[in-house]
Amino acid sequence: MSSSDYLSLNRSSWDERAPAHAASPGYAVERFLSDPEFISAVVRFDLPLLGDVAGLDGVHLQCHIGTDTVSLARLGARMTGLDFSPASLAEARRLAAGAGHAIEFVEAVVYDAPSVLGRERFDFVFTGIGALCWLPKVRQWAQVVAELLRPGGWLFLREGHPILWALDERVGDRLVVDFPYFEREKPLVWDEAGTYVETDVAFEHTVTHSWNHGLGEIVTALLDAGMQLTTLVEHDSVPWEALPGQMERTDEKEWRLVDRPWRLPLTYTLRAIKRA
Ligand SMILES: C[S@@+](CC[C@H](N)C(=O)[O-])C[C@H]1O[C@@H](n2cnc3c(N)ncnc32)[C@H](O)[C@@H]1O
Repeated sequence: MSSSDYLSLNRSSWDERAPAHAASPGYAVERFLSDPEFISAVVRFDLPLLGDVAGLDGVHLQCHIGTDTVSLARLGARMTGLDFSPASLAEARRLAAGAGHAIEFVEAVVYDAPSVLGRERFDFVFTGIGALCWLPKVRQWAQVVAELLRPGGWLFLREGHPILWALDERVGDRLVVDFPYFEREKPLVWDEAGTYVETDVAFEHTVTHSWNHGLGEIVTALLDAGMQLTTLVEHDSVPWEALPGQMERTDEKEWRLVDRPWRLPLTYTLRAIKRA
């Protein structure tokens, strides 16, 4: 399988899911349109570690249908969103226009972002929540992040923890590590009819390819790309129901293990600054 095959398989899957995601209560698109103060639960969770983004130039990599991108614009950032799925970007543009925000949404593969958007153009890169797992090589991604940032610019990444991606979510009564923790050349091949939000839509594009990247691999890739780590916090909650049957809702609209949630991290927040 060539590298373009994984891109076309994954793109077809995201294109098909984007309208269903935009229509699902989980993404709360209606709230964005009816309440000008509303920001996504993901960005609300981020606020204590995000700091002030007002007046900054930000890029949201793998922005999907734009709910977090619009949320960052509502916090005062001048935002650009990038994604390779035209159907996701159509939803994102519709949302931004309805919500009254001038956001540029650009269709491109993450690895092409510096050549498409321009080098050293942004004060911050925002990404995560199911983004890195679609990229085969974390070192190439870290290089992209560093190239997009101005000297002194920073990365904000909140992502599913690699130990969470290594668990078999189909086992509903205990934690079973069954998938790679470390990055491997070969993709994990999934064939799944559904998606991670409530929907009645029956999808036709069910096969996707993904990769895991260990936390040490992510941090080392960023250091080697010229970034300096400033924050690394692990969390016991995750924004989607990652382990069905074993989780309960938190006050922050996240999901946490019911039984001894201190056993393992489910997500992490990482900040890194591009060295001047
Ligand atoms: C789970 S979503 C990102 C989640 C986002 N935080 C959200 O919930 O709105 C993953 C996104 O990555 C995009 N994507 C996957 N692989 C990509 C690639 N190689 N280049 C650009 N975008 C990609 C998909 O189109 C999808 O919109």
